[in-house]
Amino acid sequence: MKKPLEHLAIILDGNGRWAKKFNQPRTYGHQKGMEKIQDFCLFAQEENIKFLTVFAFSTENWNRPKDEVDFLMKVPSQIFGENKINFFMDNDIKVGWIGRQDKIPKETFEAIIEAKNKTRNNQGLHLTIAFDYGSWEEINTCFKNIISSNPKISENLELVTTDLIKANLYTNNLPDVDLVIRTGGETRLSNFMMLQCSYAEIYFNSKMWPDFSQKDLKKAISYYNKTNRRFGGLENEEQ
Ligand code: IPE
Ligand code: IPE
Ligand code: MG
Repeated sequence: MKKPLEHLAIILDGNGRWAKKFNQPRTYGHQKGMEKIQDFCLFAQEENIKFLTVFAFSTENWNRPKDEVDFLMKVPSQIFGENKINFFMDNDIKVGWIGRQDKIPKETFEAIIEAKNKTRNNQGLHLTIAFDYGSWEEINTCFKNIISSNPKISENLELVTTDLIKANLYTNNLPDVDLVIRTGGETRLSNFMMLQCSYAEIYFNSKMWPDFSQKDLKKAISYYNKTNRRFGGLENEEQ
């Protein structure tokens, strides 16, 4: 079965190694990587992709040195700050966020919320930033939300449905992922949208994120277009 590519998710890896090649600090790579996100929104729009999710900071990335974490916490205000938000308005891009809301600094939280609010009526590409996101934390929060909104739920377990779980994930307004691209050469998902990617096609690429080009995206899409998505079933000719 062929399914149009609706939701593309990117694990944008390799910023640090990219910077090392130029004898620069890792934060230089993050700067370049961050700028790339904007270019990438335009590439995705050209390919008629409706949903683009970018993994920008994981729940495990707190384990990095403090100066690197401090730099990364400024990424949202750098991308969406005062003079940058026009880019998203001009290109009709709606900004969303998946991730833990109560650990990041207040300024970081406010920058994302403000971008969400300002762009909420835009109709074009839906860009979601996965920031302080991890699948284990997401499922933990999901359980807590379900139980706290109905403390007696254990008395009626029929209420615990797949739809209820989906509605309590950070991704409740997003379709499942069709294609994941991971740059940087590693072949793992690093705790990224494990449920939402359960039937996604996965494209691993050895280029570091700052080097990933529009041409590389086209190659990934052409890989996707050749895949046969069976979702557990069979193709007509296989039956
Ligand atoms: C990805 O690049 C960005 C984040 C994880 C925030 P890395 O920082 O992981 O770069 P490498 O993988 O060390 O090169
Ligand atoms: C995954 O990259 C997280 C993001 C892209 C934000 P990492 O570089 O943190 O992943 P690992 O540690 O190599 O698995
Ligand atoms: Mg990495």
